[in-house]
Amino acid sequence: MQTKEIAGLRKNYTFETLDRTDVDSDPLKQFKHWFDQAVKSEIPEPNAMILATAGSSGQPRARVVLLKGVDERGFIFYTNYESGKGRDLSQNPRASLCFNWLELERQVRIDGNVEKLPAEESSAYFNSRPFDSRIGALASHQSAVVGDREQLETTFRQLKAEYEGKEVPRPETWGGYVVKPELIEFWQGRPGRLHDRIEYTTENGSWTIRRLSP
Ligand SMILES: Cc1cc2nc3c(=O)[nH]c(=O)nc-3n(C[C@H](O)[C@H](O)[C@H](O)COP(=O)(O)O)c2cc1C
Repeated sequence: MQTKEIAGLRKNYTFETLDRTDVDSDPLKQFKHWFDQAVKSEIPEPNAMILATAGSSGQPRARVVLLKGVDERGFIFYTNYESGKGRDLSQNPRASLCFNWLELERQVRIDGNVEKLPAEESSAYFNSRPFDSRIGALASHQSAVVGDREQLETTFRQLKAEYEGKEVPRPETWGGYVVKPELIEFWQGRPGRLHDRIEYTTENGSWTIRRLSP
């Protein structure tokens, strides 16, 4: 596709509206409401979210991870603590999340501090994963350079044989993080690019709700 054709790709958003009077005073409740709608609408992988981090160099990096829980603490995902994102977060424990539910013409952005989950909680989730996923976590030093695919598959096969019928221990380098929201913005596409944007920000535990210009 040529640049001119790419520039011509545009959609008019007409699906829904969003007003301050529509939203819950608690942004986590509002998020759960939109998330349930995304699940019901059968969007593929509605829990896929972009996670952006920046380590001490200041270079932002974005990648997709899966949301694995939301509670009063915030938004939970699991990963390798020694991966690129793990290194970034050890240098600068702040992140930005972005859900992009195009079928509903919606986006949700979340900014906040990030903390590791307690080890027991990571272990409980690790143990709930299918056997192959647990072995995969053991086999992968996520984001390290590997010679070739064969090397990975050999390690995977060896670990599978070693742990067949046994408990697979959670690697200490694998676990959860929670993004504790300080800002949550709900975006609803509207006609003529006059989109609805409702932003929640918090200080000292109470939330301020404002409409932003599109
Ligand atoms: C749909 C999808 C879901 C993913 N879910 C996760 C996840 O939950 N945790 C994770 O560590 N990586 C996940 N990944 C892989 C990451 O995008 C990324 O490649 C990996 O975590 C390494 O990133 P890093 O080097 O920046 O740490 C997922 C990728 C896709 C496309």
